[in-house]
Amino acid sequence: MSALVRFLQSSILSKVVMAVTGLVLVLFLLGHMAGNLQMYLGQEKMNTYAETLQGLGNLLWVIRAALFVFLVLHVITSVKLKWENNAARPEPYAMKKYIRATLTSRTMIWTGIMIVLFLTYHLLHFTIRATNPAYGGLFDALGRPDVYSMVVLGYNNLLIALVYIAAMLLLGFHLFHAIESMFQTLGLNHEKYNPFLHGLSLTVSIIIMVGFISIPIGVLVGWIALPAGVIAL
Ligand code: HEM
Repeated sequence: MSALVRFLQSSILSKVVMAVTGLVLVLFLLGHMAGNLQMYLGQEKMNTYAETLQGLGNLLWVIRAALFVFLVLHVITSVKLKWENNAARPEPYAMKKYIRATLTSRTMIWTGIMIVLFLTYHLLHFTIRATNPAYGGLFDALGRPDVYSMVVLGYNNLLIALVYIAAMLLLGFHLFHAIESMFQTLGLNHEKYNPFLHGLSLTVSIIIMVGFISIPIGVLVGWIALPAGVIAL
């Protein structure tokens, strides 16, 4: 019994929780990015995609709830591990540790906090539409919520586009270290495979970062434009 309690309190369990929740969140990001890239296919395709998601009904709420639980677990365990690391590290050795730790690994907690702040803003912006209630009045020719025009109008605002671009850069930075350490925690740590896993972590984080960033940039440079008839708010 006490062995089980010790395991539940151990940092090994926390690391496994971090890795598994992180993996689910990365899969969500890949899916969300791929879905958003349909902005390049135009209003019809993007709104059909958004309508399909909304059509999932109760299942969509189950997915949202599960994602929320994973995110909360991920944040709580990261704070717990950071706390334990700090408690275990006497100050005089701080400098030595810094030499070995990479910039990405040292800044994980900060990039993580920025991502949570960004996510809060993003949900208020595009999902709840509290920051821009006028988006709620956008409908396409078929009477469906016009998610396509909402995104274009969002990024037509340079300040908002820059906030998204900055957040995506931080996300890429966070993901690079996160994916690599996730492989290690899940036991994929071998001299022979490490260069491959390093490359894979870099590739996945760059794909997610560039995929997302390309959308505000696409709007700013005019590759993704407002459909005829929709007036800039
Ligand atoms: C250029 C980048 C992004 C674009 C264009 C974008 C677009 C959108 C849109 C349009 C929605 C609302 C969909 C709807 O209500 O029909 C949404 C929801 C959401 N986005 Fe993003 N997003 C971006 C980046 C991100 C990032 C980086 C994250 C996570 C860190 C994220 C997490 C979410 C979540 C959790 C939701 C709510 C999903 C739901 O309620 O079903 N998004 N996004």
